[in-house]
Amino acid sequence: MDRFIVCGGARLCGELEVSGAKNSALPILAATLLADEPVTISRLPHLHDVTTMIELLGSLGVEVVIDERMNVQVNGPSITSFRAPYDLVKTMRASFVVLGPMLARYGGCEVSLPGGCAIGPRPVDQHLKGLAALGADIKMQDGYVLAAVNGRLRGARILMDMVTVGGTENLMMAATLAQGTTVIENAAREPEVVDLALLLNKMGAKISGHGADTIVVEGVEHLSGCEYEVMPDRVEAGTYLIAAASTRGKVKLNGIDPMLLDSVLLKLEEAGAELSRGDDWVAIDMHGERPRAVDVRTAPYPGFPTDLQAQFLALNTIAKGTSRVIETIFENRFMHVQEMNRMGADIALEGNTTAIVNGVEALKGAPVMATDLRASASLVIAALVAQGETTIDRIYHIDRGYECIEEKLQQLGAQIRRVSS
Ligand code: UD1
Repeated sequence: MDRFIVCGGARLCGELEVSGAKNSALPILAATLLADEPVTISRLPHLHDVTTMIELLGSLGVEVVIDERMNVQVNGPSITSFRAPYDLVKTMRASFVVLGPMLARYGGCEVSLPGGCAIGPRPVDQHLKGLAALGADIKMQDGYVLAAVNGRLRGARILMDMVTVGGTENLMMAATLAQGTTVIENAAREPEVVDLALLLNKMGAKISGHGADTIVVEGVEHLSGCEYEVMPDRVEAGTYLIAAASTRGKVKLNGIDPMLLDSVLLKLEEAGAELSRGDDWVAIDMHGERPRAVDVRTAPYPGFPTDLQAQFLALNTIAKGTSRVIETIFENRFMHVQEMNRMGADIALEGNTTAIVNGVEALKGAPVMATDLRASASLVIAALVAQGETTIDRIYHIDRGYECIEEKLQQLGAQIRRVSS
C-alpha cells in the first residue's frame, strides 16, 4: 500500500493548472448512456474514481475509447448488460447515477445499492422517490435496486426533501427522455449539476433553471452525440489555495473561474490572504504571514463546500486564534480531527457536527492514517505545516480524487514523496 512521506516547513510558491472536476466527470460519463450516438468527453481527470466509472461502463458492454490525452469517446448504445454490479458500485457511491440514464434510455436496469460510507450513511431514498414519481416501478432484491418502466418515464413535479447533488443529477438525467415536463424543486445548485445540464443540453435535452433551485426538464425523444469539456475542479483548486494559505505561501492557479470558489475565497480573505482574480485564474499571497482563525459552516452551494471542510480545519489548527468549524452535510466527517490532534493540534469536538479549534504555533510530524478522500487532503496540508516528517498511510483515498497530487505539490516546492510497500 502506498504512503506519503512529507517533510513540513516549505512555503508553497508557484503556478499550477487545475484539473477537470471529478464530481462533474462521473455523472457526465453516466450521461453518455442516454445518447443514441457516441459522446466525446475531454479534460477528464486521471483519477481512480474516473477509471472505476469507465470500468463500470465497460462492464455494461459499452465501448469506451481513450486516447493518450484522456479524451474519452463513449458509445452508449453498444450496451449489452443492464446490471451495475456490487463489486464496482461499492467502491464508488457516485456510480449509482447510472440508474436514471439506464432506466430512461432502456426501460429497466439493476443497480447495486451503494452500501455504507466512512463519512455517514448516505442513503439514496431521494433518488428512488423521484424515479418512482416519474413512473418507475422500483423494487429491492438482494441488495440491488430493480427499476423498470413500461414505455417512457412520465414528467412529474418532484420536491426533494433535502438538497442532494447525486439525487438531482440522477433525476435530471432520467427526466431528459421522459414524456412531458419534469420540475425538480429544492434542486442542488452545485456547479457540477450545471455542468451536467450543459452537456445534456448539448446532446439535445431541454433543461432550464440549472444553477437555481428549480430545474425544469422538457422531455425529448432522443439525445444525440456531442463533444464536451469537463469543468475545472473547484475542490482541487480550493485545496491548493488552502494549502498555500496554511504554509504562508504565494500560488497562482490557472484554468479556473474564481466565481466557482466564491465562498472559499471570502474565507481565505478573512484568514488574511491577498487574492487576485482573472477570468480563468486566481492567485493567493499570504505575504509570509500566519493565517488568522476563521469560523466555517458547511452548506450546499453557494455555501462553503463540505468537501473543503477538512482542509480549512487544517488551516485553522495553525492559525492565530480560536475558530469553530460546523459540518451540516454529513454526519461523520471529522475523522481527521483525531489524526491532527496526534500531530499536536488542539481540536475539541462537540457532538459530531462542531469542532472548536485553538490555533497552535506549529504542528509536529507523526505517522497518520487517511480515512477518506478529503480527510486525506487535510492531513497532507497538516503535514506541510508540521515540523519534521509525517508519514500518511492509506493514500489510496487521495488517489481517488486528486490528480498527480505529489507532483503538483513538488512543483510548488513541497517536500513530499510516495513510497510503495
Ligand atoms: C456529492 C459529491 C460529494 C459532496 C456531496 C455534498 C459527487 C460525486 N460527490 O455527493 O463530493 O461531498 O455531493 O456536496 O458529486 N441524502 C439523503 N438521501 C438521498 C441523497 C442524499 O439523505 O437520497 C443526504 C446524504 O446522506 C447527505 C446529504 O443528503 O447527508 C447530501 O448528499 P448528496 O448531495 O446526495 O451527496 P452526493 O451526491 O453523494
